[in-house]
Amino acid sequence: RKMRVGFFQMEPELLNVEANVEKALKALQRVKTDMIVLPELFNTGYAFKTRKEVEECAEPIPGYTTENLTELARDKDMTIVAGICERRNDALYNSAVYITGKYTGVYRKVHLFLDEKKFFTPGNEFLVFDSIGVMICFDYFFPEAVRTLMLKGAKLIAHPSNLILPYCPDAMVVRSLENRVFSVTCNRIGEERGLTFIGKSQIVDSKGNLLYR
Ligand code: ACM
Repeated sequence: RKMRVGFFQMEPELLNVEANVEKALKALQRVKTDMIVLPELFNTGYAFKTRKEVEECAEPIPGYTTENLTELARDKDMTIVAGICERRNDALYNSAVYITGKYTGVYRKVHLFLDEKKFFTPGNEFLVFDSIGVMICFDYFFPEAVRTLMLKGAKLIAHPSNLILPYCPDAMVVRSLENRVFSVTCNRIGEERGLTFIGKSQIVDSKGNLLYR
């Protein structure tokens, strides 16, 4: 199956869901592709200080962000994979949604990074939707994540990220090579509360060739 894929490397505004969703919707209006990947926590930003901050911008699925993305996915006949801040009952998750316009899949980040552990409940399952495996940022550090997705039938990994450490771009070349899967890593840019994000979003083919960074 031939597929055109892309990413939208953006700078979210911390704690401003409406502004971030609007920014993404506006930019994606101009895009023609089969699948687009957005960063981890694209709708809220990353560097939360308190659980209250997370609670105030977390949302249920379906909710404001996913309803807007679903409408766009339908209009443009495009799949969108995006990291969002999720509230489900009393738990908060660092999640990624897989949105086709027909249905929404939800992956909850398994390997939480540093302060994320203070706020978020970890997920416990890797999921593949239509041969697309979804994982979030720091999951890349553990070879078992992509391996599990590949064994479950993934041909391509959609990887919303907020990268801080320098290892991921090269590590994902190896993950793609050793598992024979394509990968799209969408990082964010900018700074928040002393954290700097490294950009370098990229697309790798199933032989480990870097197609675009
Ligand atoms: C990370 O998992 N956001 C580094």
